[in-house]
Amino acid sequence: MINIAIFGFGAVGQGVAEVLHRKKELIEGFIGRYRVVAITDSKGSLTDEKGLNLMEAIDIKKNKGFSGMKTLEVIEKVDFDVAIEATPTNVHSGEPGLTHIVKSMEKNANVITSNKGPLVTDFKKLEKLAEKKGVRFMYEATVGGAMPIIKLAKNDLAGNDVRVIKGVLNGTCNYILTRMEKEKMTYSQVLSEAQELKIAEADPSYDVEGIDSAAKLVILANSIMQMNASFEDVEITGITRITPESFEVAGSKNYTIRLIAEANRKKGFLKVSPRLVPRHHPLAIEGTMNAALIRTDLAGDIVVMGKGAGKYETASAIVSDLIEVYRGMRESNG
Ligand code: HSE
Repeated sequence: MINIAIFGFGAVGQGVAEVLHRKKELIEGFIGRYRVVAITDSKGSLTDEKGLNLMEAIDIKKNKGFSGMKTLEVIEKVDFDVAIEATPTNVHSGEPGLTHIVKSMEKNANVITSNKGPLVTDFKKLEKLAEKKGVRFMYEATVGGAMPIIKLAKNDLAGNDVRVIKGVLNGTCNYILTRMEKEKMTYSQVLSEAQELKIAEADPSYDVEGIDSAAKLVILANSIMQMNASFEDVEITGITRITPESFEVAGSKNYTIRLIAEANRKKGFLKVSPRLVPRHHPLAIEGTMNAALIRTDLAGDIVVMGKGAGKYETASAIVSDLIEVYRGMRESNG
């Protein structure tokens, strides 16, 4: 029996809980039996060593809110095999996710996270700790939501050198730029529309100033390009100065404008900036989509595309990490 703890119960945590409930039979077919023994948010927690009713937990969160033990006490007192860390991102301190991840690994639990902060601030330290404790550390959900990129590079492109990554890694900016171009609206008119889609960060300046894209670029550079990158290494320009007129000039030459994040290992640079992209280029995607071009030595160029954010899309990445960690253990897991 796999005991799961979920830390952070916003859209992502609730999406994961719902999928673990709704697709239990399918997922247990891969990994054997599981139950969720703890769910926490910033106010408190629900715990039950026999397994929580997940739909009831979502109802309690909506109607009453959580109380009682906070996450650190839960980590100390509850037995769990795997932590799903889905608290909000802070790219400067990594907290509170960083401490949740460290303390969970120290208890010999595997960790799956959608939280970019701890990977941006302490990637090497967390990889080393996971290795020392013999636990798995998985973070597909931190970059590109449902778009497969980290496991794709680590598994399917194993043996390749990833030399360049160029991508549209922020759905909010891509949505804003798409609407500005099509409807000739100004940046500020579209921003509130983008916030209504509920994919913008709690502080939308993280999106529009390029901070979210830069955080994802650092994660990709460190995890699949063997670069030793930190957030400060990224040269960042956001989209706040783009005007509808910029699109007219670009369009007259058959280009559009997208916020492109690029990591180049040979040239040693990391950069996020609005760039001209030929209209029919794979990175000229529309709306909230993400896309990435992965340039490798053996496989050449690989392009992936998918929904970069959203409750179920992010849950998709987390559940695939869970299955990867426990796949093949079904027989030993009754
Ligand atoms: N705010 C992010 C985006 C969410 O718009 O892409 C996913 O990290």
